[in-house]
Amino acid sequence: MKVLMVGGGAREHCIASTLAKEDIELYSVMKNKNPGLAKLSKEFFLVPETEVEKVSDWAKSQNIEMAVIGPEGPLEKGIVDELFSVGIPSVGPSKSCARLETSKSFTRQLLEKYNIPGNPEFKVFNSREGVKEYMEELGEFVVKDEGLCGGKGVKLSGEHLANVKEGLEYAKHCIHKSGAAVVEEKFVGEEFSLQCLSDGKTVIGSPLAQDHKRAFEGDKGPNTGGMGSYSDSNHLLPFLSHDDYDAAIDITQKACKALNEECGEPYKGVMYGGFIATKKGVRLVEFNARYGDPEVLNILPLLETSLLDIFIAVIDGNLKPGMAKYSNRATVCKYVVPKGYGIKSEAGYPLEVNETAIRKVGAQFYYAAVNEEEGKLFTTTSRSLGVVGIGGTLSDAEAKAERALGHVKGNIFMRHDIGTAEAIKRKIERMKDIRG
Ligand code: GLY
Repeated sequence: MKVLMVGGGAREHCIASTLAKEDIELYSVMKNKNPGLAKLSKEFFLVPETEVEKVSDWAKSQNIEMAVIGPEGPLEKGIVDELFSVGIPSVGPSKSCARLETSKSFTRQLLEKYNIPGNPEFKVFNSREGVKEYMEELGEFVVKDEGLCGGKGVKLSGEHLANVKEGLEYAKHCIHKSGAAVVEEKFVGEEFSLQCLSDGKTVIGSPLAQDHKRAFEGDKGPNTGGMGSYSDSNHLLPFLSHDDYDAAIDITQKACKALNEECGEPYKGVMYGGFIATKKGVRLVEFNARYGDPEVLNILPLLETSLLDIFIAVIDGNLKPGMAKYSNRATVCKYVVPKGYGIKSEAGYPLEVNETAIRKVGAQFYYAAVNEEEGKLFTTTSRSLGVVGIGGTLSDAEAKAERALGHVKGNIFMRHDIGTAEAIKRKIERMKDIRG
C-alpha cells in the first residue's frame, strides 16, 4: 500500500517509523528535509504542507492510496477535503470537523450546545465590549486566540497576564488577528493528554501522557512547542485514577457524536484532548485534531497491534475497541533543542547524533527540525530531535532517555528533570493538595 505522510517533525517521523514496520511504501511531504523521514520514504516532496493543492497534485501523481496528516496547519487549510477530491482518503478530519482544533469558540460552543461535561465558564468576544467586565467577574481568567497559534495562543492571568489591563490588551490583539477571543475561567490542576482515534462512531483511547510546555526545569520560563513528556506502565499517570481516565474518554466520545451532528459527517482521525484534573474533576483545556508532539512519541513505540490496520479501520468506519493494544511499559521523552530555544534560538550549529549508541542504550529517537548538508546535521530555530527511553518503570525509562541524550552533541539544551522521581513526586503532592 502506498501511504503518504504529511508533515516533517518528530511526530511524523514517529508515526512513519511505526507504519514502516508493515507492508507499505512510504511517501512524505514536508517543508524541511527530515533525515529520518527521508530515509524511510521511497520518495519525498519538499513543500510547505499547507500548500494543499500542491500536496494533492503530487500525491495523485504518485498513486497514493492513503494519507496520514501529522500537523494541524494543513487540516485548517482543508487538506483532507482536497485529497478526497482526487480520490485519496486520509487519517485526519475534514476542514469542517478540524474546527475542533482550529476554532477555539467552536469547541466551547459544541460542548455547551450538546451538554458535554468539561467546559469552563466562558464567553466569546468579537469586540472589546464587555471583555474587561467579564475578566473582573471571573477573577482568574484565561484568554485564548480563536485561531491556530502553534501552541502559543493561550495566556493565563497571574502567569502570562499580570492584570486585567494586560488581559484586555491581549484579547484585543486576538480579536484583531483572528476575529475573536475566548475568555474563560482558569482551571487549577495537573494537565494530561489523551490521544484517541475516531472513525466517527467509535473512539478508542491510548495511554495517557503529560507534556512539559515550559522551556526550563521546574516548569519555568516561556512556553514552547513541548520539551518532553512521559507515560506510565499502567497507562495512567501517577497522580490520576481510572475515574479520571474514564471522564476524559466520556468527554471525547460525546464530542465525537456531537461533531457528527454538527458537521454532518464523521470525524475520522485523532481526537487529542488536553485535559486537566482539578479539585472538581476532569475538565477540557482544548481538543487537537492530530497527535500530540511530543506525546505521540510516548504511545506509538508501545503499540503491539497494527497501526496500518487501525488507520484503515478509521477510514473505513470499522474501528473496534481493542484494535489498539499498548504494552505495559513506561516511557520518557526528552527533546533536544538549540540553545536559547523559547527565547532566541541559536540556530545553524552542527549536531552530532550517534544513532548506533542511542540504539544500544535501548532508546528510540525521532528527528524534528534539523538541516542536513553534505551528510552533516545542523540545528534550526526549532526542536532538533526527541529521544525516548522505554522501561518497566518510569525510573528505568528516564535513565535510558538520559543515557541516550549523552550521545547527542552540539550547541544544545534539554530539560533533564522530565520524568525524574523528584519531578513526579512534586506533581503527586500538588494534586493531593488540590484535591484535598
Ligand atoms: N503537546 C502539545 C501539542 O501537540 O500541541
